[in-house]
Amino acid sequence: RPPFPKYTRAEVACHRSEAERVWVTYGSDIFDITDFLELHPGGKGKILLAAGGALEPFWALYAVHGQPHVLEILHGYKVGEL
Ligand code: HEM
Repeated sequence: RPPFPKYTRAEVACHRSEAERVWVTYGSDIFDITDFLELHPGGKGKILLAAGGALEPFWALYAVHGQPHVLEILHGYKVGEL
């Protein structure tokens, strides 16, 4: 596959709502999680708290995400890199 496009953190921050598409980062990877909002086991409200920014501060609080299957789901939504 071709390399992922590069975006800045400022561009990621422009994607905070469903209308703009919801993007998050994890490490230097960028994900469009709009289509996962309704599927999130922890609810749409919680996942939207990370919209436009980094997942790490939230996942540090909710350790349930530190499992291989969670990262596998996330990587299915990758759209770019910082
Ligand atoms: C649970 C994925 C973001 C809060 C889960 C589970 C998955 C998941 C797969 C179920 C894990 C299991 O039980 O094995 C994701 C993905 C995220 C994301 C892919 C980002 C793209 C967040 C954020 C928060 C959050 C930002 C909090 C601000 C929770 C909570 C649960 C949960 C509280 C536990 C729900 C329960 O078992 O009652 N998430 N999550 N998640 N998530 Fe997330």
